[in-house]
Amino acid sequence: MEQKKYWDDVSDQKQFTTPFQADAFCKYVNSSSRILDVGCGYGRTLDELYQMGFHNLIGIDFSKGMIIRGQTQFPYLDLRVKESGPIDLPAESVDAVILFAVLTCIRENAEQEALISDIKRVLKPNGILYVNDFLLNTDERNLTRYQKFQEKYDNYGVFQLPDGAVCRHHDEVWIKELLSDFKQEMYENLTFTTMNGHRSNGFCYIGRRII
Ligand SMILES: C[S@@+](CC[C@H](N)C(=O)[O-])C[C@H]1O[C@@H](n2cnc3c(N)ncnc32)[C@H](O)[C@@H]1O
Repeated sequence: MEQKKYWDDVSDQKQFTTPFQADAFCKYVNSSSRILDVGCGYGRTLDELYQMGFHNLIGIDFSKGMIIRGQTQFPYLDLRVKESGPIDLPAESVDAVILFAVLTCIRENAEQEALISDIKRVLKPNGILYVNDFLLNTDERNLTRYQKFQEKYDNYGVFQLPDGAVCRHHDEVWIKELLSDFKQEMYENLTFTTMNGHRSNGFCYIGRRII
């Protein structure tokens, strides 16, 4: 199933619960910072920031369904459908970007690299990139599905859920390589509960665009 269609189809059902590391993020931004949430879903992270006094916020997501749900639930947020191609914002126009559980939806290295490069373009010099995502696990359930789908997707850690979602759990080495153009400010290993109620390894990263 095409992934954009998948997220549209579940846009009224999924509740995203992975906690946003607000305390860590807020050390690097202030209330007037222009913050862009890429793959914002229905906007729950931006709403959390809004309630904390951040009002210069934009959310983009390629799923129209997610954006419509967010616009209904949080009408005061600026949520926009992201069309294919580059992010529709000028170069060096935002102070911080949030990328929260989005890499897990992008199975190919090249596509992840293109998104990170575009994020770098829209960030101001010294701008902040916050990434939360999933890492490889070693339990039997995960090992079985990584092996089952390795050949099909030609990338260890990519797997398909019974409902059609294709997800990726990442090798930490790949994440470090992907983000190597940024200066790492913070990196923490975490354990998450996924949107389907399972436990998974994950990380929270904060980096700075090198001028
Ligand atoms: C697991 S959800 C997380 C949503 C949100 N970041 C949160 O944590 O509440 C992933 C979201 O990323 C969006 N997405 C996936 N790939 C995308 C892409 N290439 N461009 C824009 N949005 C994308 C999906 O539509 C979905 O809403």
